[in-house]
Amino acid sequence: MKLNIALLPGDGIGPEIIDQAMKAVKAVAEKFNHELEYTEGITGACAIDAVGDPYPEETHELCMNADAVLFGAIGDPKFDNNPKAKVRPEQGLLAMRKKLGLYANIRPVETFESLLHKSPLRRELVEGADFVCIRELTGGMYFGEKGRKDNGNTAFDTCIYTREEVERILKLGYEFAAKRNKKLTVVDKANVLESSRLWREVAQEMAPNYPDITTEYMFVDNAAMQIIQWPKNFDVMVTENMFGDILTDEASVITGSLGLLPSASMGIHTSVFEPIHGSYPQAAGKDIANPIATILSAAMMFEYAFNLKEEGKAIRDAVAASMTEGFVTEDIAEGPAQGTSAVGDWIANYIEKN
Ligand code: IPM
Ligand code: MN
Repeated sequence: MKLNIALLPGDGIGPEIIDQAMKAVKAVAEKFNHELEYTEGITGACAIDAVGDPYPEETHELCMNADAVLFGAIGDPKFDNNPKAKVRPEQGLLAMRKKLGLYANIRPVETFESLLHKSPLRRELVEGADFVCIRELTGGMYFGEKGRKDNGNTAFDTCIYTREEVERILKLGYEFAAKRNKKLTVVDKANVLESSRLWREVAQEMAPNYPDITTEYMFVDNAAMQIIQWPKNFDVMVTENMFGDILTDEASVITGSLGLLPSASMGIHTSVFEPIHGSYPQAAGKDIANPIATILSAAMMFEYAFNLKEEGKAIRDAVAASMTEGFVTEDIAEGPAQGTSAVGDWIANYIEKN
């Protein structure tokens, strides 16, 4: 198969972790006889510095013409500390989501045996937890009308959803639940918000079409509590943009493996695969960043964008082996720590040899 990938390394540790993921991608392509083509584009702070736009049109074209996008990370402290900055790296991310129609952000929450001791939760609560958060990504307050009035002294952000937007994300939720443990938790605030009442109304209409899936409704405040109290009770969780932003961060730390978790954003055009962690500027260029989340994002790319399950598994097996061997970076090493690049080489080499 011909695989045409757009690479957007971004800022901070982005370029070095993308390099490691590409070692794994090349090893898999070679092993399974796929023809690989890849082109790099700029996004984030580096794109602002270069052309004044965090998601330039040229980068968008590149993404539109690719079969999948592998994304590193964006963000630079020089923008965080300047509330008056007119253009920010994060705007690039939002523009990319909107222009590619990436309405679903999928974050699997998985545990890794060797990292369970790093979880803030007691081992017995989190061991074996395995669920997927599906966050709506192009609607709600992020993209609703916003502004100021009263000479700037009143500010507003509108949470707005159409039936169509709700239907397509719930449909995806049901498709995931059907392939997993047949439980869908719809998270909203229907006791207060009109937009949430639409979500619940649509979900209640759709639920009978999926008789073998249990649909559960949960208010977001309760969900925030249940995620840490009974994480094993979740299978697939689906929610609107802002709630999802908050809950996915919460969900990602409970397994103790924040630095290892990948994500996919999918929708109308090309899907984007990226680690959930940020650009970690303090570590940039030091060969210490953990490349595993990005390498696992590449595994998700094979599975979701190309429907190549075995290829994805080859990457996952290699990652698991590096962890069992203890050939890992300083953030998770119990013994001697390895460099970013050495871990990338080890994983690619394992893929070739096994
Ligand atoms: C995320 C991030 C972004 C979001 C920011 C950087 C705009 O927090 O991907 O979760 O809020 O969606
Ligand atoms: Mn977030």
